[in-house]
Amino acid sequence: MGDKLTQSVAQAANHLAHADRVACLTGAGISAESGIPTFRGTGGIWEGLAVEQVATPEAFAENPQLVWRFYQARRAALLPVKPNRGHAALVTMANLCPRFTLITQNVDGLHHKAGSTGVLCLHGDIWIDRCDGCGWRTRATGLCDRLGHCSACGQPLRPGVVWFGETLPQGVLERAVEACTTAQVMVVVGTSSVIQPAASLAHWAREAGATIIEVNPERTALSGDAHVVINAPAGEVLPGLVQLWASAPRRRPG
Ligand code: OAD
Repeated sequence: MGDKLTQSVAQAANHLAHADRVACLTGAGISAESGIPTFRGTGGIWEGLAVEQVATPEAFAENPQLVWRFYQARRAALLPVKPNRGHAALVTMANLCPRFTLITQNVDGLHHKAGSTGVLCLHGDIWIDRCDGCGWRTRATGLCDRLGHCSACGQPLRPGVVWFGETLPQGVLERAVEACTTAQVMVVVGTSSVIQPAASLAHWAREAGATIIEVNPERTALSGDAHVVINAPAGEVLPGLVQLWASAPRRRPG
């Protein structure tokens, strides 16, 4: 680790050691080291693909089979994927802090696979099948190339993810805002911080007095507003950060 990186990790650990309310927001970058492509940038999921063809309610109304197949392909790619050291470090973080809230924009279920509990999934969960007609929902147990239909009302089933132009799952954003605006420290990992409302969480946290720590190998829309920027892949730095936090003397705010 270079001097600057070592210094920012130490700074971050020091802030965390002073906090008893911590919120963490993750994006596609936390899963990159598990081999899942991010959305934006070279090789990203959205590269060469018009999001409006597969990730909007209009696309599903127009061609449900195409949208269904896109999400089945994403499920198939996710099946063998294992959480990485970054996901594992966040499980440990939760044990170090009396009030730790993990918020994710990811739909891949890897935080859950790693052992995190109570995760606020802002953009839903790709493993849920649900019906927009009557609200019926179920957890998918395997892959199925053919579009399914609701056994209650007969409408086509859709994946339980949030599409562009849709509102977030009820109550989830509210709980995320509450966690971020009451946190003393917010850690933002692996997100380009451009998709709303997730991107605003760190700004609301900062306005409410939280120290913002960003972990990302690239500069993002948030970097200029973060108090500590750790420019490195999550799986490489989070385990060390957690270790430093665990060994730091606890000096909690009153
Ligand atoms: P993006 O693809 O926009 O950004 C991924 C971020 O991860 C980038 O800033 C990368 O620099 C960073 N990154 C890459 N490798 C990393 C690593 N090993 N460790 C840490 N960071 C790394 O993905 P999101 O910001 O998550 O929404 O995208 C937000 C939303 O846009 C997604 O939830 C999805 C998408 O459209 C919906 O589908 C509704």
